[in-house]
Amino acid sequence: MLYRHILRPLLYRMDAEKAHHLAFGALRRTAALPGGKGMLRLALAPKADPALTTRIWDLELPTPVGLAAGFDKDAIGFEALGAAGFGFVEVGTLTAHAQPGNPKPRLFRLPKDRALLNRMGFNNGGSKAAEPRLAVPRQTIVGVNIGKSKITPPEDAADDYALSAARLAPHADYLVVNVSSPNTPGLRDLQAVESLEPILRTVRETCEQAVPNRRVPLLVKIAPDLADEDVDAVAQLTATLGLEGVIATNTTISRKGLRTDPDAVRALGNGGLSGAPLKARSLQVLQRLRAALGPDTVLIAVGGIEDPDDAWVRIQAGATLVQVYSGYVYEGPTLPRRLANGLARRAKEGGFARVQEAVGRPEPIPDVSGGVAHPRNIG
Ligand SMILES: Cc1cc2nc3c(=O)[nH]c(=O)nc-3n(C[C@H](O)[C@H](O)[C@H](O)COP(=O)(O)O)c2cc1C
Repeated sequence: MLYRHILRPLLYRMDAEKAHHLAFGALRRTAALPGGKGMLRLALAPKADPALTTRIWDLELPTPVGLAAGFDKDAIGFEALGAAGFGFVEVGTLTAHAQPGNPKPRLFRLPKDRALLNRMGFNNGGSKAAEPRLAVPRQTIVGVNIGKSKITPPEDAADDYALSAARLAPHADYLVVNVSSPNTPGLRDLQAVESLEPILRTVRETCEQAVPNRRVPLLVKIAPDLADEDVDAVAQLTATLGLEGVIATNTTISRKGLRTDPDAVRALGNGGLSGAPLKARSLQVLQRLRAALGPDTVLIAVGGIEDPDDAWVRIQAGATLVQVYSGYVYEGPTLPRRLANGLARRAKEGGFARVQEAVGRPEPIPDVSGGVAHPRNIG
């Protein structure tokens, strides 16, 4: 209520990127007050609930609802975001070289579509500067998303990713190779398996050298604009290389099906579209990946998740975890709690003790003998 009727209209009067910095700054300052994180937890986080606890790799996540990459690019506020109710926070995209990103303005709202359009271009202070911020004990589970520096030519991409991996893998609960942003020229071409395989192999070797005593979970984040065969090829590569997971999906370059006036959309220029218009394709990609990969690979669903029903549909379609970005901007700071509580409720109603038990399982079929039978057993 407060967000929707008072804060959001105020933020909307501002340039979208400025509003982001203002809101994120206020959250960080609140967390830095004495007792601030406790206050945030009380006000915004879901109550601890075993139904929400999610165990993957050697981690125990308080909820399966996370914040997607791009919100905390420089890893400056993950503890505040954790206190504000996210079960995990993916920082980045961080690149080997610090870079300013594209000229402003570069982030736009499309409220009629509950969407955002961005061409930020990996603005970040670089993986070297981020390292000390991550190399401290923490309460929040943090994934680290790395990308290619703009100045690095595609043929040197593997070394560029490896440099960031060497710096950040020791401090990452999981590491993501992002090859799917539309805002770094040529980046998405790296999704072709001939390009992707050497990058992922190099990053894996780098992780093994940098963190010899722990297997750092390695994931790849893909675009919704891949053709189905290319999604299958990435799934095949994921299995071949034994990657721990896939994140589906990044933003889309498509402008199909928008309610916003096409001329107004065109006038905004290039960039990746996120939010509600991404929902259907992100779900399809997730379903395809789960079908191709079987139950053991972690899949993180992101793209157009706005309410508990969206999150539940992804869990049932095989998402181990879900993430939000645009929904957080439109729905406000209570979204992580609403999503988590909504998932717990739907799981219990469906006869599952924990949300994680429902991963990849359609609604249970009531069983005449008194128990519940599940048609498939994934997760
Ligand atoms: C302003 C903005 C910046 C983003 N920056 C990144 C990024 O740096 N790295 C990345 O992997 N994804 C980035 N994303 C994509 C999101 O992580 C997410 O995949 C996408 O927005 C779809 O989710 P949503 O519909 O919930 O927003 C960004 C998205 C937005 C809106």
